[in-house]
Amino acid sequence: MDRSIFGKMAGGTDVELFTLQNARGTTAKIITYGASLQGLWVPDRTNKLSDVVLGFDDLKGYLGPHPYFGGTIGRFANRIAKGKFTLDGREYALALNDGANALHGGREGFSRKLWKGEIVKGAGSASVQFTYVSADGEEGFPGTLKAAVVYTLTDEDKLKIDYTATTDKATPLNLTNHSYFNLAGSGDILSHVLQLNANQYTPVDASLIPTGEIASVRGTPLDFTQPTTIGARIGQLAGNPGGYDHNFVLNGENGKLKLAARVSDPASGRLMEVWTTEPGVQFYSGNFLDGTIQGKGGVAYQKLAALCLETQHYPDCVNHPNFPSTILRPGSVFHQETILKFSVR
Ligand code: BGC
Repeated sequence: MDRSIFGKMAGGTDVELFTLQNARGTTAKIITYGASLQGLWVPDRTNKLSDVVLGFDDLKGYLGPHPYFGGTIGRFANRIAKGKFTLDGREYALALNDGANALHGGREGFSRKLWKGEIVKGAGSASVQFTYVSADGEEGFPGTLKAAVVYTLTDEDKLKIDYTATTDKATPLNLTNHSYFNLAGSGDILSHVLQLNANQYTPVDASLIPTGEIASVRGTPLDFTQPTTIGARIGQLAGNPGGYDHNFVLNGENGKLKLAARVSDPASGRLMEVWTTEPGVQFYSGNFLDGTIQGKGGVAYQKLAALCLETQHYPDCVNHPNFPSTILRPGSVFHQETILKFSVR
């Protein structure tokens, strides 16, 4: 475990970088800005390490405009239609930062906050805990919310991301990590092979808001129940979003750890499994990347340069009583656990 200074905020406060490394050399780098996963070095089948997540080499990149690279997303991951919801008889209005909708926590969501980092000593693994207190009314959400995210790297190449939160007033809460993965370390993700443990998904309208329907993936380009190359049917998804950007309804029980996704890169042999307690996963194929952002090593991130597998409650679930609820109430503890498990084949 290494703890160093990644950069300084405009006011002079340090942004720290925590480096977790295991016996195999697998290395996870997390910064206190956004509790963001800044780097993830994983071996290929010849034991060569590559960084498999998009991001920036320095803080300046994270402070500038970018689509949530590696960030911890809150208070509410994904979209809320027209930024509106009613809770216990009161209507709330959030900032609209994605066309007519609210996305990923608002103008300055959790991925743009400075979290506090602490090393946690555990048996046989290294962990770092990030905490953040979101004030009552922040970004329009009710209640003082205390959030904690613990990243743990095990010697079995599992990166566990464990979230807990409490509140003093009822609030919607949907936490996730927004890492952009490319298991080859460069190029596009069209030849990655994906399997999703999902027989159903939540169809959306043109602004990517769920219609409320829960539909079968059978016979559609969203059927990843068998391992399928991402590029195989992506051309069938014309228009907005021009690629995959869908919430999949995971098979298995909400709240229980289950396999969500298995993605591999045949060239390097790298395989990542995603396990989660959440009921959904947003598979986003980096459709809105357009080469304007220069990331690590000065690389311009092009469309389809990476994919996201955001474990979450369904988008806009605050406005769909038939979707699993994300309301956290005083006295309850929110918990979500997601595990990224790496291996080679
Ligand atoms: C959303 C995309 C969005 C991306 C970056 C994903 O979670 O599903 O629609 O473009 O985040 O903001």
